[in-house]
Amino acid sequence: MKKIIVEHLKYRYPESRTLALDDLSFEVEQGELIGIIGRNSAGKSTLCQALVGLVPHFYQGAYGGKVMVDGLEVRKSTISELSRKAGIVFQNPFTQITGSKLTVYEEIAFGLENTGVERKEMIDRIDAVLDLLHLEQVKDRNPFDLSGGQMQRMAIASIIVMKPEIIILDEPTSQLDPQGSEEVFRAIQRLSDDGMTVIMVEHKVEKIAQFCNRVMLLDHGKLIGFDTPEKIFSRNDLNMHGVEAPVYTRVCKALNVKKADSSFYPVTLDEACQALGRN
Ligand SMILES: Nc1ncnc2c1ncn2[C@@H]1O[C@H](COP(=O)(O)OP(=O)(O)OP(=O)(O)O)[C@@H](O)[C@H]1O
Ligand SMILES: [Mg+2]
Repeated sequence: MKKIIVEHLKYRYPESRTLALDDLSFEVEQGELIGIIGRNSAGKSTLCQALVGLVPHFYQGAYGGKVMVDGLEVRKSTISELSRKAGIVFQNPFTQITGSKLTVYEEIAFGLENTGVERKEMIDRIDAVLDLLHLEQVKDRNPFDLSGGQMQRMAIASIIVMKPEIIILDEPTSQLDPQGSEEVFRAIQRLSDDGMTVIMVEHKVEKIAQFCNRVMLLDHGKLIGFDTPEKIFSRNDLNMHGVEAPVYTRVCKALNVKKADSSFYPVTLDEACQALGRN
């Protein structure tokens, strides 16, 4: 089932002369875990905002084409209607939290309280996300006393607890240490395994290759490629678009070692070991 359909999406911010999104067309199936890569200013965050309706409803500007999110046309729906379909986690958790709740638990409960979910279900859902994101130990702490990494996991928890069909994460691990990032990636994969559709902007290409089933490469607002990690990271024009392949791919390319019976290079450590072990 298609969860996202984008047709010829064009968008220019007010006052800007250039298109931030330049004629994007693509589709995403339910349960896919999509990674978006691209250099600074490529349009990654703007695309995320176009999927949750902040573009064009909040930012306004010039808009063309059509975006369908779980059956709703973004241009014709309100941000509130769209937020029930797709939740977004921003780069900086400070912009995400209410700022008025005294504990992590209350912060995560906030959205649920406003939708009138029954108390027992609310407690079960909050306990499940505290467990998933390893936040039990800080559940009684003040959100402002958390580390950046803990705060980002809390921001993700407060979205996931609402059970959206789609979750969009804009560089969700940029403030986390390697272990915190790994926990978040694994949690995201579990959500994806459960059937949630995940779109994630991420600069750590090794993680993208490990966790995502497809990768979208953007540059200057244009869609350069949208395919499996091995196909995207085997491209010869990545540097031209300001991105690098995972280190495992670069090593195998330098040694001209491809995957078995394939014209593409390994993209993960395991694949590289397998391919190199054959030689
Ligand atoms: N609020 C805004 N008003 C005007 N122009 C904007 C605004 N936000 C982004 N832009 C412009 O839109 C283009 C795309 O920016 P966007 O933030 O989507 O890129 P990005 O790929 O997320 O970059 P980064 O890797 O730095 O986060 C850039 O040229 C940027 O300057
Ligand atoms: Mg961005």
